[in-house]
Amino acid sequence: MSATEARGAEHALDRFETLAVDRQGLIALAGRGPEALRDARGRAEAVDLPFPAGAVREAVVCGMGGSAIAGDLVADAYSERLRRPLAVVRDYSLPGWVGRDTLVILSSYSGNTEETLTCAMQALEREALVVAVTSGGKLAEFYGAQGVPVVRLPGDIPQPRAAVVHLLVSMLVVLERMAILPALAEDLGEGEAALAAAAGANAPERPVAENPAKRLAAALNGGLPIIYGAEATAAVARRWKGQINENAKLPAAWAALPELDHNEIVGFEAAGDLGRAFRVVMLRDPRHHRQVHRRFELTKELVAPAVDRVLEVTAEGRSPLARVLDLVSLGDYASLYLACLRGIDPGPVDIIERLKDRLATTGYGRAAASPGE
Ligand code: F6R
Repeated sequence: MSATEARGAEHALDRFETLAVDRQGLIALAGRGPEALRDARGRAEAVDLPFPAGAVREAVVCGMGGSAIAGDLVADAYSERLRRPLAVVRDYSLPGWVGRDTLVILSSYSGNTEETLTCAMQALEREALVVAVTSGGKLAEFYGAQGVPVVRLPGDIPQPRAAVVHLLVSMLVVLERMAILPALAEDLGEGEAALAAAAGANAPERPVAENPAKRLAAALNGGLPIIYGAEATAAVARRWKGQINENAKLPAAWAALPELDHNEIVGFEAAGDLGRAFRVVMLRDPRHHRQVHRRFELTKELVAPAVDRVLEVTAEGRSPLARVLDLVSLGDYASLYLACLRGIDPGPVDIIERLKDRLATTGYGRAAASPGE
């Protein structure tokens, strides 16, 4: 960010009127991560899970958007500690291998997302070990009445994507209780501390000069963000991309190393003037594989001449959860401040609601085969 931009951004983001476009209060909510973590932990620990621990052969998280990303964050952060495979399904159908020994976590904040509900139906048909994480809707009412254990989240979070800490912590506790993850008490404590630290550092009262999220928002304003992660930060990159889409109402892209070094970088070779629109953000983790660190350095060197700028952020914290929450929180705040800078209310996602309404009028069974198939 140039000195002029920093000065300009300081005036805008440090003014109450700029932040007042956030009518649903998502910025204030982003500061309540520690309470969300404690609340979700209590709720998930209290649910009766009527399956023998150790009974699970593999686990699946079914969800969409803000309710799915929690599953990716867990899978990427804890990939080395997972004792069973963990997959995330964002679709209408469960994979063929889901059966009686599969733990199926149905994740939908509203409890009414049709893709998740069709997976729910299939999971029950296959007699899988099913748990729901939701604030209500059909998932809580219909499937709860069918005997599915429900981690019931509070219903007053204005947007599903703002419930990410609740969703993620609920999943972690369920996975820990089913012996798919080892004991997490220490990690949860560090996660809470990371959320508290991020809330302090990025708080709306803190001026641009001392506020990493506001500075990032100012640096991204006017460009198209491309977010790169790797290993534990791959899912975080996807979260940033989604938050920029939904909060700041901007197109954005994400990709993960090492894979992006095998295709995506070629796109910068002849991007020409189009490249000037891109602002690349690299999400780094001190615990990356040594070669991943080198790849970040080399990729930066190769990509920088073709884009407007490359920014880097490094996760802080001891446990994977702390480091992931540190970056998730920074990205959440930055996307909210970016919305404010653009004069856009970050909360409503009318286009998603309109699409859901139109789809809901048609039912969601599989289409009949067309003639000749
Ligand atoms: C809206 C949001 C969306 C939803 C998605 C699924 O804030 O984040 O990505 O998460 O449309 O809805 P739910 O989470 O209710 O299952």
